[in-house]
Amino acid sequence: MSRCLRIAINGYGRIGRCVLRALMESHHRESIQVVAINEPADLESMVYLTQYDSTHGVFPGAVAAVDGGLSIDGCDIQVFHASEPAQGPWGQLDFDLLLECSGRFSTRARLQPFIDAGCPRVLVSHPGRGAAEVDFTVVYGANENGLRADQHIVSAASCTTNAIVPILDILDRNLGVGGAFLTTLHSVMNDQPMIDGYHHADLRRTRSAMQSIVPVATGLAQGVERLLPQLAGKIQAKAVRVPILNVSAIDLSVNLNRATDPQALKALFLAAARAHPGLLACTDQPHASVDFNHNTHSAIVDLSQIRVNNDNFASLLVWFDNEWGFANRMLDVACAWADQFSDNPPALMTGTPQISSLGA
Ligand SMILES: NC(=O)c1ccc[n+]([C@@H]2O[C@H](COP(=O)([O-])OP(=O)(O)OC[C@H]3O[C@@H](n4cnc5c(N)ncnc54)[C@H](OP(=O)(O)O)[C@@H]3O)[C@@H](O)[C@H]2O)c1
Repeated sequence: MSRCLRIAINGYGRIGRCVLRALMESHHRESIQVVAINEPADLESMVYLTQYDSTHGVFPGAVAAVDGGLSIDGCDIQVFHASEPAQGPWGQLDFDLLLECSGRFSTRARLQPFIDAGCPRVLVSHPGRGAAEVDFTVVYGANENGLRADQHIVSAASCTTNAIVPILDILDRNLGVGGAFLTTLHSVMNDQPMIDGYHHADLRRTRSAMQSIVPVATGLAQGVERLLPQLAGKIQAKAVRVPILNVSAIDLSVNLNRATDPQALKALFLAAARAHPGLLACTDQPHASVDFNHNTHSAIVDLSQIRVNNDNFASLLVWFDNEWGFANRMLDVACAWADQFSDNPPALMTGTPQISSLGA
């Protein structure tokens, strides 16, 4: 029998917990084993927040603290609480890949100590501060073919990048993108306080997350250009946090080089969704954001919101579950990378159903 891909998780917050729960719900469950989690919180709280999740619901299986570790559905996971890479017992663990999900390590200088401490490879849950801070940045479905065994620090980009890169790529290949404005409407995150508080260097992130629509700084334009270098200088982005727990959207305004109309764009994205099952979907249903909670896709194009002005100026609304979709992509990337560095790689994604019936 082939060996499972053995992973560890650093930072067991929203993304770290979603990765573990997504694994338990996905076809990767048979081929990936979580051997350790490093997180500052106490074990009792970790068990509790694994079992009870306000956004994704109660975990249906058994979760318990066993021998100082976390047991989920009979799988035993070591737990430790190191604040710096050098303090963790990484070198004593038998594992293949660390999923860095704390968000606290975004430069090569901060990430390399994980390798030095014995982590064979690190997959980061956010973009590197610059392209050179990681060996490769991957958006699953776009460029995972570039993963190599000799890369050691790889970024899975951001949830927003995973949502918009496939859309811009499809538009550019078929119609030519002359320029685009992206506005991310993002649910709240743990880097915002519940009520006003001294919490962040970005002044607006000191404001109550649940009381306001809060514009925040974003590196999305640079992140997109890193993945789609042919669009360098053509992308501008804004981000606003909106007071909902989960699920985000991107409002895309794009100048196209060739003329189009809403019907042609619908046909284009329906065909693309058929070509990328499990990653890209379309819907013509009258959805609100909550309908996409726990959705595994990277992006869902809302066909009812497509607009075209003067043949070349188009507007799209793209939904994505910023937690669950991204956590599933982290697992997909882990498997795709293991395909390069392992003698017995786990099975790659086989595709999941589209989210709704499609009116073609
Ligand atoms: N949430 C999303 O929708 C989303 C989507 C895609 C990517 N991401 C990215 O993923 C990263 C994590 O986001 P998140 O929303 O999961 O944040 P989060 O809920 O705050 O989780 C981060 C966890 O890491 C812990 N931590 C802090 N310092 C640590 C250290 N030195 N070693 C190990 N663990 C440490 C935190 O503990 P304390 O709370 O005690 O500090 C917290 O439990 C960020 O870079 C974010 O941009 C987030």
